Amino acid sequence: MNTAPGLVTLCSLFLASALAWAQDVSFDAIQPILQARCVMCHASEAAPLGLRLTSLEELLKGSRNREVVKPGDPAGSELVRRLKGQSQPRMPMTGPPFLSDAEIALFEGWIAGGLQPGSQPASATVEPVPPQRPPAGEPVTYAHVAPIFASRCVKCHSSNGLMGSAPEGLLLNAYTAILDRDERMRVVPGAASASELVRRIRGQSRPRMPFDGPPFLSAEETQLIVDWIDQGARDSNGQPAPSPVGARVRLQGVLGEGWTLDSLPLVVGPGTRLDKSPEAGDYVEVRGRWGADGRLLVERIRRR
Ligand code: HEC
Ligand code: HEC
Repeated sequence: MNTAPGLVTLCSLFLASALAWAQDVSFDAIQPILQARCVMCHASEAAPLGLRLTSLEELLKGSRNREVVKPGDPAGSELVRRLKGQSQPRMPMTGPPFLSDAEIALFEGWIAGGLQPGSQPASATVEPVPPQRPPAGEPVTYAHVAPIFASRCVKCHSSNGLMGSAPEGLLLNAYTAILDRDERMRVVPGAASASELVRRIRGQSRPRMPFDGPPFLSAEETQLIVDWIDQGARDSNGQPAPSPVGARVRLQGVLGEGWTLDSLPLVVGPGTRLDKSPEAGDYVEVRGRWGADGRLLVERIRRR
C-alpha cells in the first residue's frame, strides 16, 4: 500500500530538519544565504564591526570584537543569537523579513556539526553584486536601487537601527516605506530634484547622507537613484508610484535668485510665509505641497 503523499512530504520535512540536527550541514548550504542576505553589508573595509561574511575564512576570523561562531555551540554563537533576535540589532538588518526557521536551523546544524567546510576552498569569496542598470530602453525599478539602500542606508533607516528608531521616521528597507507620504514625501515620483532624499545624497541638503560618509554614494549610484525617481519611482514589477499631487514636501538648500532652490523653481505667492527674511544665497528650509502642474507650491520659507 502506498503512503499518502501528504505524509511523505511531512516525513521528508521532518527528515530535513532532523538532518540539520544530525550535524550534516556543510558550508555549501550556508554560503548562498550569506550571499543573498548578508554580504551587501558585511563585505570590504566598510563591513560593520569588521565582520566580513564573504568567505568561510573571513567568517571564521569573526568581528573586531569576537568570534561569531563557536564550533559545537550554536546557542552560544553570536551569529545565531543575531539571527534569532536574542542579540540586537537582529540580523539581517534589512529585515523584516528575517531568515526563516529552516534557514536558521541550517546555521545551527552547521555550527553544531563543527563548521564543516564546503566543496570550495575556505578562501573562495563571493562579492556583493554591484548595483545593476536595466537593459537599454527599460525603466529603472525599485529592484535596481534597493541594494544601494540596503548596503548604505538601512543600518540607520530601519526601525531597529544603529541610531535606535529610524532618523526622521524615515524607513529605507521597503518600497512602500520609502514612498510613504503620511507626514511628508522624501521621494517625489517624477521629480528627483524636488526629492529630499536626492538632495541629501548630493549634499545640497545638510547633513549629507549617508550620515556615516565619506564615502558617499558614487556618481553612478546617485544617477541610478535620480533616474529611478524621474522615471516614476516604479516598484519592483515596474508599476509607477501613485501621483504625488497634494502631498507635503520639506526641502533644504540654498535659495537662488527669483525663487529657486538650487535651480529648482518654487511657486511663491501672497500666501507664502517668509521667516527671518530669507534672501538669495541663504541656506533655507522650504515647506509646501506638490502641485498638479509639477511644481512646489510653497507655504513657508525659513532661513536656517
Ligand atoms: C543592512 C546591513 C546589514 C545586513 C544586510 C546584515 N548585517 Fe549584520 N550587522 C550590520 C551592522 C550595522 C552591524 C553592527 C551592529 C552593532 O553595532 O551591534 C552588524 C552586526 C552583525 C553581527 C555582530 C558581530 C559582533 O561582533 O557582535 C553579526 C554576527 C552579524 N551582523 C551577522 C549578520 C548575518 C549573518 C547577516 C545575514 C543573515 C547580516 N549580519 C546581515 C549590518 C548588516
Ligand atoms: C549612520 C546613520 C545613517 C545612515 C547610514 C544614513 N542616514 Fe539618513 N539620516 C540619519 C540622520 C541622523 C538623519 C537626521 C539628520 C538631521 O537632519 O539632523 C538622517 C536624515 C535623512 C533624510 C532626511 C529626512 C527628512 O525627512 O528630511 C534623508 C532623506 C536621509 N537621511 C536619507 C538617507 C539615505 C538615502 C541614506 C543612504 C544613502 C542614508 N540616509 C544613510 C542617519 C543616517
